[in-house]
Amino acid sequence: MTLINWTPETQRAFTRENLLFTHNIADSDLFSEEALIALIDRYPRDSVEVFTMGYDPTVFGEWYLGRKTAKDGTELDGRALMEAVKHGRLWLNLRRVNHADPAVADLCDRIFAEVAEKTGTHNLKTDLGLLISSPNAHVVYHLDMPMVMLWQVRGVKKVYLYPADAGFFTDRQIEGIALRESDENLPYDPAFDDRAMIHDLKPGEMLTWPQNAPHRIVNGDMVNVSLSIEFMTPRALWHANIIYANGLLRRLFGLNPSLARSPKILEPLKIVFARAYKLMSGGFKGHKSPLTPAFSLDPQRPGTIIYDDGVTPFVPPASQKPGKAA
Ligand SMILES: [Fe+2]
Repeated sequence: MTLINWTPETQRAFTRENLLFTHNIADSDLFSEEALIALIDRYPRDSVEVFTMGYDPTVFGEWYLGRKTAKDGTELDGRALMEAVKHGRLWLNLRRVNHADPAVADLCDRIFAEVAEKTGTHNLKTDLGLLISSPNAHVVYHLDMPMVMLWQVRGVKKVYLYPADAGFFTDRQIEGIALRESDENLPYDPAFDDRAMIHDLKPGEMLTWPQNAPHRIVNGDMVNVSLSIEFMTPRALWHANIIYANGLLRRLFGLNPSLARSPKILEPLKIVFARAYKLMSGGFKGHKSPLTPAFSLDPQRPGTIIYDDGVTPFVPPASQKPGKAA
């Protein structure tokens, strides 16, 4: 049995169009509540990230990294973190699970073997992230450099998916994301929704889209478990390097390259330029400073957020139930 249900059309259009699939892993024992708790506990602690966010899914920048400890430094184990997600406003991100857990690595390998067999793509830099997130949590409008498949295991999330073309972001903005600059802010305009594919992603469904298509996500009123599987095809990697090179040309030489009008004849030169620059300099030094933790959790009061001194708390609007976050 295949993991994904394909048709000849979806096999042909994979990586080129927005595609909704059904899959067969939502009931896998790998993702039962107890299995997830055990996974968190045996997982490299540094690769588990916890975030909280503001209450307006259209406002950028309201996103804090937290600690997986109480204020006194007590570690929250897998069960306590799961309780915090259930009762709070949190986004738990287990990064690169396929590099850390043999059972998930096996699943990830099977997925990409199937994708390669069905679509003929060669998949590189495969990365399976596990997202465990609170009722009504969200991720604001953004785009990712790799290709993405979003697999829904539990709960329902509304996915807003936008075209990957000019009008939804500028050349400078997408270059900033490729270069990992500080200004990777992608401004959102509610008018964008007129051209969005909006879908309630349910357990057993998987959504994938063309490279760089912007998107935003709003959870339903229940805990969500999803797999965010990233990968590169040779074509996607080439495209990412062109964007990187364009970003360097703009920032180092004051040029004004355009992705849409990128002369094909110059592309190999740009690839060499991007690779050489990364090799020689260790990569473009933007101004991005890593997020520093802004809150702790309270194992006695699951979901309660203890903001650090000087951090502005996110305040729920009057219409939302009290007690979701303190
Ligand atoms: Fe994303």
